[in-house]
Amino acid sequence: MAPKTDHLIGLLLGAEDDWPTAFEALARRLGVIRTADGADHRVTTERLSIEPFNLRDRPRQDLVIDRLAHWYYHPREWLKKVSLMDDVYLLNSPFTFQSMEKHSAYCALMRLGMHVPDTVLVPYKNPVDNARWAYTSRRYNKQFDLAAIADELGYPMFMKPFDGGAWRGVSMIKDREALHQAYDDSGEMLMHLQKAVDGFEVFARSLTIGPETMTMKFQPDEPMHNRYAVAHGFLAEETGREVVTIAQTVNAFFRWEFNSCEMLVKDGGVYPIDYANACPDVAVTSLHYYFPWAMKALLRWSVFCTVTGRRARTQVDTDPWFAVADDESLDYRDKLTAYQGLADEHFDSERYWEFCATSLPHVDEMVHEWIGSDEFRKMLQTTIHQTYPTHEWEKFEGHFGGLLQLWLTDEQHRLSGA
Ligand SMILES: Nc1ncnc2c1ncn2[C@@H]1O[C@H](COP(=O)(O)OP(=O)(O)OP(=O)(O)O)[C@@H](O)[C@H]1O
Ligand SMILES: [Mg+2]
Repeated sequence: MAPKTDHLIGLLLGAEDDWPTAFEALARRLGVIRTADGADHRVTTERLSIEPFNLRDRPRQDLVIDRLAHWYYHPREWLKKVSLMDDVYLLNSPFTFQSMEKHSAYCALMRLGMHVPDTVLVPYKNPVDNARWAYTSRRYNKQFDLAAIADELGYPMFMKPFDGGAWRGVSMIKDREALHQAYDDSGEMLMHLQKAVDGFEVFARSLTIGPETMTMKFQPDEPMHNRYAVAHGFLAEETGREVVTIAQTVNAFFRWEFNSCEMLVKDGGVYPIDYANACPDVAVTSLHYYFPWAMKALLRWSVFCTVTGRRARTQVDTDPWFAVADDESLDYRDKLTAYQGLADEHFDSERYWEFCATSLPHVDEMVHEWIGSDEFRKMLQTTIHQTYPTHEWEKFEGHFGGLLQLWLTDEQHRLSGA
């Protein structure tokens, strides 16, 4: 059989319309992609709908970017089916995102030697609704002293769900009274207590797509449109590399391909606090200046995976990682170097960049031109109108329009080598 040269990328979407519109527009402009062997490939996109499916149905998609399966389970099961039966490539794989939530990510990074703040998992405040609970509880549910655990961790701390997301149930705790209140309020949620990284200098949030990482300066106390600061060179060079390695390690370890990683930097140390986001925010009204980069990375990586026929590896292989982690002859820096090597190998980074240079050399210009187009301006305007009340439209059109204009100018300089 001749190798496949027409490839379909499926988009499994929730409420978003901005980045999918951008992604589709850019994919339409890609044209023919010629690979090193001289073959011509074409990529098209399609939004997926939710329908009954026979488990033996053959999907048409080669790759699916999933934004829905973390909360809607019917398509999640379809993703598992097409991954297992038809080798469809997934960003992200529900196999590891479902089973390896925030808690597992903490555990893995702790074993790998990263500076995850001390964390304790406490039992449910309200027991699960199960007829067997009374017996189990009587026999095995040990009394514990919440205040003593907190004293040992030290205040301030955070209480947050073990599988969290979107700030649900997160609280900062400064004293015993707040501790008991937060635990009482946790109800049926299963909670971590985590020592706060108090007085951090920088909140670095890295978005990683395949082997590409953008580290942004995050301002969690600002309103959403202002959380990502446009800032360059805000980390020392070595710290910047450490942040990228941590973000890429998480993804390569768990086989995640599209994820954001939150790290706090204090006194030169990097403390990862949250790095299991099955559906990282890529809204133009959040990322603004960084939105073109995100779209470009998503396009390049999904095209690379489909056109080169990259095989998905959906299961975690801990061995090579733990061999480094458990090697007592290596210090933290040595381990970071080794993890970066494993991540590069997993994502085939060298071949990816080679592919971008030879088969997608026109993409930088193409994205620049599109962000400067009327089509993009209209998409931005529509998004603003859908997101904000009428009296704020003008303000936000100026705000986001200005930030994207800044990107256009900076990118023009970069492309002209200035
Ligand atoms: N150990 C910590 N030290 C300092 N700040 C923390 C710590 N843990 C959480 N935070 C603060 O609380 C916020 C929410 O915590 P976390 O990111 O773990 O929860 P989340 O539900 O995933 O939130 P989001 O979806 O906004 O990322 C973080 O962005 C950070 O500002
Ligand atoms: Mg977070």
